[in-house]
Amino acid sequence: MTGAAPHGLRVEHLDEPLGLGTTSPRLSWRLPDGAREQHAYRLTTDDGWDSGWVEGEEHVLVPWPGPALSSAQRVAWRVRVRTDLGASPVSVPAWFETGLLHATDWSADWIEPGTMPAGPAGERAAALLRWEFDADRPVTSARLYATAQGLYEAFLDGARIGDAELTPGYTQYDRRLQVQTLDPGPVAPGRHALAVVLADGWFRGQTGVTRSADQWGDRVAFLAQLHLTHDDGTVTVLGTGPGWRSATGHVTAADLIAGERWDLTRLPRGWDAPGFDDAGWDPVTVAEHGSGGLVDSPAPPVRRVEEIVPVSVTRVPSGAQVADLGQDVNGWVRLTDLGPAGTTLTLTHGEWLGPDGDVTVEHLRPDLPFLPHPLPAGQVDVVVSAGVAGEAFEPRRTTHGFRYVRIEGHPRDLRPDDLRGVVVHTDLRRTGTFTCSDPRVDALHEAAVWSFRGNACDIPTDCPHRERHGWTGDWQLFVPTAAFLYDVAGFSTKWLRDVVADQWPDGTVANVSPCPRAEGRESPVSFLNGSAGWGDAVVVVPWELYRAYGDTRVLEETWPAMVRWLDRAERMAREQRHPDRAARRPEPAPHERWLWDTGFHWGEWLVPGEEVGDFGAFVAADEGVVATAWFAHSAGLLAEIAAVLGRDDDAARYAGLAARVRAAWQAEYLDGDGRLVSDTQADHVRALAFGLVPGELRPAVAERLVELVREAGTHLGTGFLATPYLLPVLADAGHLDVAYELLLQDAEPGWLVMVDRGSTTVWEHWDGVDAEGRPRDSLNHYSKGAVVSFLHRYTAGIEPLEPAYRRFRVRPRPGGGLTSAAATHESPYGRIASSWRVDGDRFALTVEVPAGTQAEVVLPDGTATTAGPGTHTFPSALEDAA
Ligand code: BGC
Repeated sequence: MTGAAPHGLRVEHLDEPLGLGTTSPRLSWRLPDGAREQHAYRLTTDDGWDSGWVEGEEHVLVPWPGPALSSAQRVAWRVRVRTDLGASPVSVPAWFETGLLHATDWSADWIEPGTMPAGPAGERAAALLRWEFDADRPVTSARLYATAQGLYEAFLDGARIGDAELTPGYTQYDRRLQVQTLDPGPVAPGRHALAVVLADGWFRGQTGVTRSADQWGDRVAFLAQLHLTHDDGTVTVLGTGPGWRSATGHVTAADLIAGERWDLTRLPRGWDAPGFDDAGWDPVTVAEHGSGGLVDSPAPPVRRVEEIVPVSVTRVPSGAQVADLGQDVNGWVRLTDLGPAGTTLTLTHGEWLGPDGDVTVEHLRPDLPFLPHPLPAGQVDVVVSAGVAGEAFEPRRTTHGFRYVRIEGHPRDLRPDDLRGVVVHTDLRRTGTFTCSDPRVDALHEAAVWSFRGNACDIPTDCPHRERHGWTGDWQLFVPTAAFLYDVAGFSTKWLRDVVADQWPDGTVANVSPCPRAEGRESPVSFLNGSAGWGDAVVVVPWELYRAYGDTRVLEETWPAMVRWLDRAERMAREQRHPDRAARRPEPAPHERWLWDTGFHWGEWLVPGEEVGDFGAFVAADEGVVATAWFAHSAGLLAEIAAVLGRDDDAARYAGLAARVRAAWQAEYLDGDGRLVSDTQADHVRALAFGLVPGELRPAVAERLVELVREAGTHLGTGFLATPYLLPVLADAGHLDVAYELLLQDAEPGWLVMVDRGSTTVWEHWDGVDAEGRPRDSLNHYSKGAVVSFLHRYTAGIEPLEPAYRRFRVRPRPGGGLTSAAATHESPYGRIASSWRVDGDRFALTVEVPAGTQAEVVLPDGTATTAGPGTHTFPSALEDAA
């Protein structure tokens, strides 16, 4: 037995999960450094279970091979491996713990505040709930299983339980509600108080661009069970029920969109500690809210992940003070000096400043054809001070997308150190970095990272302010990029379960998930759902998770929903014709059976200079060229997915479908000379990216794309859907130079304009801030930031060849005058790195290959080699000799 032990033990896509909801979790570990392959593994648990040596090379997502798991079971496990290096020592232990796995584990009752906070959404107070109990015997460990319809924050004897924010998180509450398993810390014998702040959150508060409220119910409720384990192994189970009392207190309003208001003069001091006199409080209402659909979360929780000291605080003409965090974030501000008792402070959060240096939020107000008038931007917090020194304001029942905050009403000049920007998002593991010799490219990369961070608040959102919705299209187009930056496996799996829960019986995938009623099947805007390139998220996202993380279970789980989505496209293509086409061609051509040209489609969406204009015409437009392309692409992916799942008949069926849809696309959208009928950059990009044109036409289509780029003055002309593929298809077609020219273009439209105009995040529109500095719509939409995957995949050249990067390619493509670049990627097998430097006409590459993997290294001079685990350096000429 020699060498290092396996390490990096994980369960599902988490490190040491508390409250797992599955009885067959998958385990992963990394091999000792330098090992090429695993021959066998051996798992043991602290309670004496031993798998014995199990032959096999799998060590990523290995299904739990141990004895059946029960509820609330804690398992400490270790692993040894036999590899080409021999038998390893045993790893350090890791643990996981199951949650309450069965509905019958629940004995607690749902409780509602005795007096339901009333008023219009945005104006509703948070309820305070409290209850005291006695621990009559010593407690060795305690767990709180908790959830809410609304948002809850729980305290034991005044101390916050856990560090998760915005619990229970956002899911399709009609079907799925997450339960948190929390460790409240030591519980000494004696009297204790459990206290809960319960607010509207997504469940009852405003959601989305319509600002609709009461989307899942009009009553907030809380459910919790406290399990106290004693040294003899017995468990005392306590929980929510009739003994609890409620009141409203200092949180006078709380809403995710509008913001939060506190009046600290109304804080019932001591309410969260035992012994508080709650005689005047209301008894809670015990109500039936069901215990079906209670689930765990496969994602890490939302947390306060970082604090930022503002770079400045300045006075504006109105007398208010404006703090600049120097970074556009999702989160809130913590303020510790609230002024003398009775001082009212108003905090307005925004992304940009007007000409007077004051915060402007006009551009964030929803203003859409189907809304009566621009709605409020929200993001306003108010706090009334109680004059208690050091008492902090931190609005934990809302988050804002902001860089600047206007503070009105503070009696003194604030210094940056008086406040903190608190960055709040899903606490994802960072897995990828990129840097290069061009600081503006680095700044663009950083802006894309921050836009993702700003939009990973329990669900992948489009923007953190105006809508904060889980737009399907946005996530499908960004997920491959996100997977270079963070471990988004659990986060995406959670969201996909909502996408599946939201799917209509006819296969329509909702625009946003979780989908509130106001935007769903029964809503006045129901016709906007089911768009190509948006609904395809149900195919693309699981596929990307398989590629990046080797997760086949997510493919299995989502398969039926993928099939329903494709069936719908197939049916619509077969049964319907776009009225414009029918008018032009009364008798349908045979290929039209496979042409998807009906239903509403967002189309390419937001190409430079595009205005929606006449909404009726926009909705009625024939987007067959985009929809049929996506139909072919997704059918092709289903064929690949079916093959992975061993569904051979389905693989053949979908390969056939993809070929027919591709042929239909060609019949309709290629003219007799092999040119695309739709002469846009985006359609050329799609034709190349989705393999829609016959191989012999590819060079000509790529040439035409380059011409279109040149005709636009070497500017991009793509919007949402094609932008992620633009630079890759150019590079793949032999136009790497054009790809770099577009990347480095600094006149509008182009990515570097965002950086040059001082943005720290990626804009929704190419002209998000115009030359005069005027903002337009959201300044924090990650979609266009998908370009940075080019930096990882092409500039640094890291690309998976097999799922989870078990085999990967490193093929750096230097260009754009860059003299060096470096990227790292924490793959499921371990750390991959590629870094290169140009010196005159010489090029030197260093590659790190993790244990258990193999890299195919392709140098700029065309040389290809294979590299096993370890660090390797390769000199090369800069040019391909051929
Ligand atoms: C959202 C998106 C979304 C789009 C649909 C917008 O209002 O912000 O990013 O994908 O609508 O086209």
